[in-house]
Amino acid sequence: MIKPGSVEEILNTAKIEDIVGEYVTLKRRGVNMIGNCPFHNEKTPSFTVSPTKNIYKCFGCGKGGNSAQFLMEHESYSFPEALRHIAGRYNIEIEETVTSRESIEERQMLDSLFIVNQYARDFYQKQLFETDEGKSVGLSYFKDRGFLEETIRKFGLGYAPGEGKLFCKTATAAGHKDSSLKKLGLSTSYGKDFFRERVMFTIHNLSGKVIGFGGRILKKDVKAPKYINSPETEVYNKSRVLYGAYFAKKSIRQNDECIMVEGYTDVISLHQAGIENVVASSGTSLTVEQIQLVKRNTPNMKIIYDGDTAGVKAALRGLDLVLEQDMNVKVVLLPEGEDPDSYLQKLGAADFKEYIDKEAKDFILFKTNLLMEEAAGDPVKKAAMIKDLVASIARIPDPIKRSLYIKECSHLVKVEEEILVDAANKVFKKTFKQEQKNKERFRSDSQRQGGDGGGRPGDNQEDNSASAIPKKEAVQGNEFQEKDIVRLLITSGGEIFDEESKTTVAAFIVSNIEEVLDDFDNKQYERIVRECMQMLNDGKKIEQKHFINHWDDEMAQLAITLLHDEFEYSTNWKDMWEVELQTQPMPEQNYVKDSISSINAFKMRKIDKTMAKNQERIKTAQEEKDDVKMMKYLRIQQKLLAIRSELAKAGNTVILK
Ligand code: CTP
Ligand code: MN
Repeated sequence: MIKPGSVEEILNTAKIEDIVGEYVTLKRRGVNMIGNCPFHNEKTPSFTVSPTKNIYKCFGCGKGGNSAQFLMEHESYSFPEALRHIAGRYNIEIEETVTSRESIEERQMLDSLFIVNQYARDFYQKQLFETDEGKSVGLSYFKDRGFLEETIRKFGLGYAPGEGKLFCKTATAAGHKDSSLKKLGLSTSYGKDFFRERVMFTIHNLSGKVIGFGGRILKKDVKAPKYINSPETEVYNKSRVLYGAYFAKKSIRQNDECIMVEGYTDVISLHQAGIENVVASSGTSLTVEQIQLVKRNTPNMKIIYDGDTAGVKAALRGLDLVLEQDMNVKVVLLPEGEDPDSYLQKLGAADFKEYIDKEAKDFILFKTNLLMEEAAGDPVKKAAMIKDLVASIARIPDPIKRSLYIKECSHLVKVEEEILVDAANKVFKKTFKQEQKNKERFRSDSQRQGGDGGGRPGDNQEDNSASAIPKKEAVQGNEFQEKDIVRLLITSGGEIFDEESKTTVAAFIVSNIEEVLDDFDNKQYERIVRECMQMLNDGKKIEQKHFINHWDDEMAQLAITLLHDEFEYSTNWKDMWEVELQTQPMPEQNYVKDSISSINAFKMRKIDKTMAKNQERIKTAQEEKDDVKMMKYLRIQQKLLAIRSELAKAGNTVILK
């Protein structure tokens, strides 16, 4: 693992304008720089880079973060990959923790597996281009299929020879371990080559490293399967990989759409024809991780199915998963017997493009039509089909979308809207409850494993899924002061509150709210305060960048959102948040006043709560005719009232929400 100190150095050295500037043309505007957001389509720039805060933030789509987060989002790097990239750019030597020998060994082991895989790719490619067997069998096959040499090299296509042990022999002679070959599924348990007499397709991860292979048989009339694939290994987690994603990711973002096909050859063919935003599920049903991988780049997905209805019906069942992720899904069905590769060859690129654009149907409506045909004239089947349909619709998280689909479908299947709404709501509530439960379980699990601020959990190769965009969230009445307090801590915690005693803003705030911290409504805000407390206890300075670069993405995103408040406001911001902004707060100048009024407001809220509780007691005492008690509580109430007006006087601009 990269040492925390090293992580800090890397993040501090990285200049956000350099890192972003590699991908986005930035123009100065005041202290900030602006450009067109690389994460969503826009014509007027709302993507802001703040060199002083060393962060970026898009007012249009809400994405924001530091240099590492930018690379994770833009290049789909994992956190360590992003750090290594930055370190490379600034010539920073990375220090890895030595405390955990296992993790170093594991890293080295993983590195060595990638090296072996890469060796295998080179071997198969060499066989394809340089041996008689490879040329006459493999290369001629690819050429017949219309693959150009450039394409073949780009995608790492190759040939595995017929001789049963050639690869293993060559690889071990070159110094690679038997055990590595086995681990990667390149050799069988008998020490023979796993891939024999097959053309080879290299499978890459998102950063272009070789993680596995698929091998296609060329002989006809043999019992062996058409494709064999590398098994799941330490570097190949099948549920997280989409074939072609490395080559497609840029184009997916540019086109704001991902085309999903079934086969390796479809990806390559389309790519060669200039349609580059395409990935393959490799014939299996989609997983949540695969969908999330797409979703990080675009919410729009177009799935092209090979032209056989039976297969499509089976595939459609798996698609509810995509709806759940709030993706916009369109489906294209090809004519019977065609797959994207064959149909593209038949039509040519231009007509093919036109076909898929024209034929793309909304998934739910496509499914409705398909099922309707099937159930025609059979009421029992129709009832079952409506259930199926409603279950799909209920998976859509967006209520507006859900109701629009219901309207459309009620029309198509000729069933009253209310009945469908009712049925969908039932399913929705059930799944929602289940999800809440799962989430709670997940949360308490991850809290138990909570980090110590050192490394970052989930430091593995593929895990870069934690790039949640903070959702626009209405601040609840009670959270208003909490938010303000936390914002002050993050933006100005390290500033001096009182010149004489050199108390910092953070120390002032923390010491004043310590005893009521359990009362925080927003647990995340509470966490930030507690973390500040801990930092003060440890004698650490509270700095913005600590939170911006926080190992816990949720915390980092929250910090960025809070900091965002003091950013320039763009018009997009107004549209997005539906808030008219009157003033531009300058907390840099107001933190002393802000601290006092925030804390006062918070304390007043606390007092209000206590007073309400006390009022209840008075009422009970009255009912029970217990005068002694009643007098006692009345006195307490008076005292509380006095404190309250004191507070109100002190912070004359306090607004209680
Ligand atoms: N597949 C597999 N194992 C099989 C058959 C298929 O893993 N026995 C996967 C492969 O990833 C393949 C995809 O499913 O690419 C789609 O299968 P198919 O359409 O049969 O293969 P194509 O890639 O279209 O190959 P070709 O064009 O040569 O028919
Ligand atoms: Mn196919």
